[in-house]
Amino acid sequence: MRIASLTVKNWMNFKELTDVPLHTRNYVIGANAVGKSNFLDVFRFLRDVASPAGAKPAAGGLQEAINRRDGIRKLRCLHGRKDSEVLIDVTITDSKDRWRYVLGFKGEGKANNRVLIRQEQVFKNGQPLSECQRPDKNDMQDHDRLTATYLENPNANKEFRGLAHYLSSITYLHLVPQLLKHADEIGGNRLNRDPFGQGFLQRVAETNGKTQGARLLRIQKALSRIVPEFRELSFEQDPTTGAPHLRVNFKHWREKGAWQREKQFSDGTLRLIGLLWSLMEGDSLLLLEEPELSLNEEIVRKLHKLIPHILKLGKYADRQVIVTTHSESLLSDLSIGAESVIRFVSTDDGTVLKPASDEEALMLKCGFSVGQTLLPAVKPDGAEQLVLDL
Ligand SMILES: Nc1ncnc2c1ncn2[C@@H]1O[C@H](COP(=O)(O)OP(=O)(O)OP(=O)(O)O)[C@@H](O)[C@H]1O
Ligand SMILES: [Mg+2]
Repeated sequence: MRIASLTVKNWMNFKELTDVPLHTRNYVIGANAVGKSNFLDVFRFLRDVASPAGAKPAAGGLQEAINRRDGIRKLRCLHGRKDSEVLIDVTITDSKDRWRYVLGFKGEGKANNRVLIRQEQVFKNGQPLSECQRPDKNDMQDHDRLTATYLENPNANKEFRGLAHYLSSITYLHLVPQLLKHADEIGGNRLNRDPFGQGFLQRVAETNGKTQGARLLRIQKALSRIVPEFRELSFEQDPTTGAPHLRVNFKHWREKGAWQREKQFSDGTLRLIGLLWSLMEGDSLLLLEEPELSLNEEIVRKLHKLIPHILKLGKYADRQVIVTTHSESLLSDLSIGAESVIRFVSTDDGTVLKPASDEEALMLKCGFSVGQTLLPAVKPDGAEQLVLDL
């Protein structure tokens, strides 16, 4: 399955985005604070809603998904009217069918400010599914039912279970190496769904031995090309505490080299290990935040080619990936077309899409990369003055 297009209304920075087309690879660009991460958050939100309520460790459902974002007032677009409905309308295709899931909700407007569903609909190949056209007769008799989606309810989503399962398996990765390196000092506090990779080593530990070994070997091969001293990567469980660790053998003046645990790895090494592992870990939509961070420019240039290569090794060559980036190097690969780039700009009426202009289309035709062509327009106006003004 993959997301084919998205419409949102009143979602954070976006008062309205209509039919944003999505492809197998997508690069989201725009100035700081324009809403790139908030755009990814639409998909994380759908994932949170679609996870069954009460499921551990990631309790899901609509109310929990909204609470996790500090309530409807924080989530609803500040540019919208006060009482406006938040709407998400997503089209998902698989080899056979075209699905559409529509969810609209708003605050109840009473003191407790519950959030109530205004509409929830599922369409299959253009036809409305009678099992999910809300509000339905039962909802009209009992408004409390409108606090929960059918998507999150296994008793109600039988006819579109595949869709619910797909949305609930969406993965987000923004690995923060320091959280792994300093896990002992930080302790066991971990964010829901582990967006910053704190649970990464645990996930490695829980992967069955054969798959774990095969993935680590592929990562080892990739890393040995990038870090010349890199010799061997393996997993170990601390014999005393049972804590999971990665260890790397670096070539060294001693014959047997030197073994180091993740605490001693460089930030870039850890981020790359996390990225490569995540690419091989599943087949649902993968959301990557700024994969260029901590990586050498030359590696960043190769990421666009590396991603499908690793996906193929993990057996999911067509896995859909949405990447946020500020990096011209990441967008320097000439095989990236303008259609893969989602460019946002901020306006007085919220953030909007900015497609390639005729002039930019001409530059692309003349052989310039999307990085060279499409990034300059999102440069903040004040950047030139930044130093002079201080
Ligand atoms: N409900 C809302 N209505 C309007 N704007 C909002 C709302 N919620 C958050 N924002 C704005 O969204 C901005 C943050 O957006 P986001 O984190 O998606 O930016 P970004 O493009 O990922 O930036 P960066 O490149 O720095 O990571 C903040 O400036 C915040 O004011
Ligand atoms: Mg961001």
